[in-house]
Amino acid sequence: MSEVIVEKCNGYAVIFMSNKKKRNALDSELSKALIDKAEEISRDDDIRAVVLAGKNHIFCAGADLDEFSAALTKDALSHYKNMETDVKVFDMVEIINKPVIAAVEGYALGGGLGLACSTHIVISSPECKFGMPELSLGIFPYVIFPYVMGAVGKREATALALTRKIIDAAEAKRIGIVYEISDNPFLRAKAIAKSIASVSPAVLKLSMDAINSLSGEKINSKYLSLLRIVNFASEDLEVGIDAFKKKIKPEWRGK
Ligand code: COA
Repeated sequence: MSEVIVEKCNGYAVIFMSNKKKRNALDSELSKALIDKAEEISRDDDIRAVVLAGKNHIFCAGADLDEFSAALTKDALSHYKNMETDVKVFDMVEIINKPVIAAVEGYALGGGLGLACSTHIVISSPECKFGMPELSLGIFPYVIFPYVMGAVGKREATALALTRKIIDAAEAKRIGIVYEISDNPFLRAKAIAKSIASVSPAVLKLSMDAINSLSGEKINSKYLSLLRIVNFASEDLEVGIDAFKKKIKPEWRGK
């Protein structure tokens, strides 16, 4: 069962993602709950900063591959309808519109990396692993790629996606995903959120407007989502997910 737990502290809130049996994979239930909580938090003036973390000492293992398998038989129109949650969840930081600090442990893979890169500050445990393994499964990380690119630039993001390299926290810090490495990323992220919540609320709002006004090009998620729908119609995605589950090498069919 997946769920989102929100704890309100003094001036800030902590959002926990939890999907224990699947390494906190982002299923549609979790994604929808994240969007709903983001909207609630955006309206709550008592919350001036947010910590995003995963339960069970893991941040997030990306999209739910069981839902991917189930989605292989869906038609384009159903995929299009699902975009509301599948794609919108990565806008959660934009929806919150307050500083968001990710506390990452274990793994931040695929969508987990996308979420981390969409936040303002990432605090990582020394052991946390980051990467975009999607191409090994037969799909490009369409939706999250722009967020990773925003954090590390196009060349590093392209290399990460193409090589599917899983990098450690030190490398993630070197290329700009991680701001700080801490033995207790959760406590450190909470301390930063508390400190941010202590500045003038009026000036903090202006600060967010200033930062957002410099956020570069608006992500063209509609075109990327369209490519994702085309990819979902390929046999090779089924081959890739099946190989992941059986822990074998995929035998691509090229279609
Ligand atoms: N979606 C659905 N289930 C997932 C999942 C995901 N993204 N990631 C992990 N799981 C499930 C596994 O299928 C396994 O289920 P089982 O116990 O029923 O066999 C369980 O979580 C534990 O995973 P396992 O791979 O055995 O754990 P691990 O500690 O050896 O490895 C990961 C952890 C995160 C490195 C590994 O699970 C992984 O690579 N996950 C997929 C990451 C990915 O490709 N993300 C992009 C998706 S588009």
